[in-house]
Amino acid sequence: MDNNVANCWAKIQSAKGSDFFVDTFYRLLFKHYPETRPLFPEDLKVQKTSLLSMIHSVVNGIDFINELNKELTDLGKRHKEAGITKEMYDHFILAIVTAANLSSDYSFTDDEVKAWESAFKKIAEIMLNSY
Ligand code: HEM
Repeated sequence: MDNNVANCWAKIQSAKGSDFFVDTFYRLLFKHYPETRPLFPEDLKVQKTSLLSMIHSVVNGIDFINELNKELTDLGKRHKEAGITKEMYDHFILAIVTAANLSSDYSFTDDEVKAWESAFKKIAEIMLNSY
């Protein structure tokens, strides 16, 4: 388990909290990349819950990625079929990193920021193997 990733989540919880984090993530994604908005349903309630549950898996240990290889590959296939382009992943990760920094009141150390970003990059890499 990568303690740095767990530390990031703990810092978000004790600063702005997880609701602020998910709201900020979608706000940033749609602000900087409005083309992605129509891909999502009008009501983001379900999406916010699924983003949070994904983050819980990430926080609970990056090792899970090896166990979830097949699931992440299938998830990538579904994203591809839904018209989500490779380019969109970079924006997605940038929004995840910026939202985390804002939600923690910029209290991450450099190592924590790196760990947070690389956890999502790893996931995206596996998903993109299906492209
Ligand atoms: C690290 C990369 C990503 C992860 C881990 C991830 C995770 C997920 C998960 C768990 C779901 C739930 C549905 C399912 O199981 O098929 C989902 C749905 C979805 N994702 Fe992603 N996603 C990623 C990247 C992206 C990107 C780059 C976009 C495009 C901006 C995107 C847009 C969507 C959309 C539009 C849905 C379906 C929404 C709906 O109709 O309910 N995802 N994603």
